[in-house]
Amino acid sequence: MYHHVPVMLKEVMAILAPRAGQKFIDGTLGGGGYTFELAKRVGQTGKVLAIDLDELAIANAADIIKQTGLNNIKLIQGSFGELMDLVPAQFKNVDGIVLDLGLSSAQLDDPRRGFSFLREAPLNMAFGNQAKEKTEVIINRFRAEDLAAILKNYGEERFARSIARQIVAARPLATTSQLLEAIGRGLPAAAKRNGKIHWATRTFQALRIATNDELANLQAVLPQALRLLKPGGRLVVVSFHSLEDRIVKNFFRNEAKDCLCPPAVPVCICDHKRRLKILTAKPLTPGVPEIKNNPRARSAKLRAAEKLKIKS
Ligand SMILES: C[S@@+](CC[C@H](N)C(=O)[O-])C[C@H]1O[C@@H](n2cnc3c(N)ncnc32)[C@H](O)[C@@H]1O
Repeated sequence: MYHHVPVMLKEVMAILAPRAGQKFIDGTLGGGGYTFELAKRVGQTGKVLAIDLDELAIANAADIIKQTGLNNIKLIQGSFGELMDLVPAQFKNVDGIVLDLGLSSAQLDDPRRGFSFLREAPLNMAFGNQAKEKTEVIINRFRAEDLAAILKNYGEERFARSIARQIVAARPLATTSQLLEAIGRGLPAAAKRNGKIHWATRTFQALRIATNDELANLQAVLPQALRLLKPGGRLVVVSFHSLEDRIVKNFFRNEAKDCLCPPAVPVCICDHKRRLKILTAKPLTPGVPEIKNNPRARSAKLRAAEKLKIKS
C-alpha cells in the first residue's frame, strides 16, 4: 500500500471547488489523496488526469481504480515539467490544476530508496526511473565545490563546504549510512546537538532536489499550467521549501501584472498582459490540528491563483 496523508486537502478542495462534469489535473498523484477526492466530486461526467514520475504511485492508483471501478481517472507516468507534451487533448482546457511538491511518505519510507537517513538503503533519491543513478553520480563524482554549492543552495546548509570535503574524502559511498557518517564528520559537535531538525536533513534534502531537478521542473510547469487552464480555472501549488515557494510567488506576481519592464524603462516595451488573479495574498499554512495529526504538513505553504477571463 502506497501510504501518504494528503496535506491541506480541505483547503485545496475549497479553492478548486470541483463540481460535477469538470476536469482537473493533479500533477503529483502520490498516494492519490487529491486525485480520488477530485474524482469523487466531478462524478461520472467529469475527469481527472493524474501524473507522477513514480511508477509505484501509478501502480497503486491503478489498483485502487480497479478495486473501486472508478472510470473517470486517467493515469500518466511522467514529469510535470513536460506537462504540455504529456496531456491528452481532452485535458487542454481544464478547470483546475494542483501540484503538491516534493516526495510522498511512501517514497520516504521505501527501503529500496535512499530518501531517508533513518534507513539503510542505496543512494537513490530519484522520484522515478529517469534519474536512478543521479544521486550516486552527484555524491561520488561531483567536484567538492559543486557538491558544496548544492548543499548550500538547495539545503541552506551552513557547513556545506566542510560536509562536501568529508563526502569527497570518504568516496566511494554506496549507502545512506555511509553518507550519514560523512555528513556527521563534516559538522561541528554543537551543530549536531542543538538543531531543531536532524543534522542530516538539509544535506539529504539538497541531494534530493538536485537529483530530481525539482526547481527547474517547477519553473517549467507554471507557464504550461497557465496555458492549460480555461479562463476562470484555478492553479493551486503546495510547497515545502522556501525556494519553491519563492518561485511560485514570483510567477504569480509577474502574471498578475500588466507590465514587466524594469523601472528604468519609461514606457512599456514588453507588452506583457496580466493573466492571473492571485487568490492567496499570503500563502495558506496548515492549522495546528493538522500539524498534530500529520507533522509532515508543518512546512507546507499553499498558493493559489485564477486565470483571468481574457484571451491568452
Ligand atoms: C507530496 S507527494 C503528493 C501527494 C499527493 N498529493 C497525495 O495526496 O497523496 C509528491 C509526488 O509528486 C511526485 N513528483 C515529484 N516531482 C514530480 C515531477 N516533476 N513530475 C511528476 N511527479 C512528480 C513524487 O513522485 C510524489 O509522488
